[in-house]
Amino acid sequence: MNVLLTGGAGYIGSHTAVELLNRGCDIVIADDYSNSSPVAVERIRQITGRDFPAYHVDVTDCEAVRRIFRENKIDCVIHFAGKKAVGESVEIPLSYYRTNLDAALTVLECMKEAGVSRFIFSSSATVYGSLNPIPYREDMPRGECSSPYGTTKAMIEKILEDACHADSTLSAVLLRYFNPIGAHPSGLIGEDPQGIPNNLLPYIAQVAVGRRERLMVFGDDYPTPDGTCVRDYIHVRDLAQAHLLALEYLDRGGESGPFNLGSGDGFSVKEIVETARKVTGKPIPATMKPRRPGDPPTLIASNHKAREVLGWVPQRGLEEIIADAWAWHQSHPNGYDG
Ligand code: WQD
Repeated sequence: MNVLLTGGAGYIGSHTAVELLNRGCDIVIADDYSNSSPVAVERIRQITGRDFPAYHVDVTDCEAVRRIFRENKIDCVIHFAGKKAVGESVEIPLSYYRTNLDAALTVLECMKEAGVSRFIFSSSATVYGSLNPIPYREDMPRGECSSPYGTTKAMIEKILEDACHADSTLSAVLLRYFNPIGAHPSGLIGEDPQGIPNNLLPYIAQVAVGRRERLMVFGDDYPTPDGTCVRDYIHVRDLAQAHLLALEYLDRGGESGPFNLGSGDGFSVKEIVETARKVTGKPIPATMKPRRPGDPPTLIASNHKAREVLGWVPQRGLEEIIADAWAWHQSHPNGYDG
């Protein structure tokens, strides 16, 4: 099985690449390195001891994508490529719609030309909107997303549903990620946000390594047990393994559709900070701040469908996740740049 990973040098793409190579799959990576590093590609080779082609391309470039399909016999595409900063998407929505939709459409059109019919899409819990009850289940309707980033995910899901409906040979799995955190235990690959991190774990890690002074906790007056937001954090390796199971599922003729990838458990911001203090042994000073606009109080997955249909069993608990993230951030305080 030869799998094309668009955005394969990114955070989730690189961890998925390792899992696929370790299980004997062949891979091809296509990445423009706009929010990732070619060093990640070298690290994937180092961790797995395996080689593979890596194309420095923007997957909105149809000719470049065609060339990848011409030069490699691809069985399935896992589409990670896209812009993903929620706040930035509110500021420059057109760029998000243009890039994310164009990338998905270009890859799908090139797949069709090349006769490739299996597609796995990096979607997000954000497609549920804010009106569905917790925990989110795949049979609930998509809702109004709180950012253009989220809307691009919902729009691509809809495009895939329509494309699968029109073409019975196309099958697509939509993987709805909750909050992926952690890193490969080797400490060689991990999350490498550009600039000031938007997400909680990278921010905490930068406080722990001394790059930033203190964490701002956005809101402690939410209707949750300790007043801070609750999220469903999932180890990026558990997430990566779900992609392998999704490939196997498509290989045995599985039906197109969405799958939630979350642990099914929720942790508050305060619980995360406490666990990070324990794991790192660092004080991690934190200051309460007003709520961040658009943050829902609680987000938790029902993962029954992924467990039952894919056979996915998330295996890593919070302390292990934070310890793995810490190993990466401690050895790479400036990400792949050093
Ligand atoms: C978690 C909690 C913050 C930073 C986002 C996207 C989602 C997915 C994952 C992908 C919230 C609080 C955060 C900080 C804080 N995206 N927080 N101080 O918002 O649940 O999900 O990332 O690419 O689509 O929406 O994750 O890590 O940003 O926040 O208090 O400095 O931590 O308010 O309650 P979120 P997050």
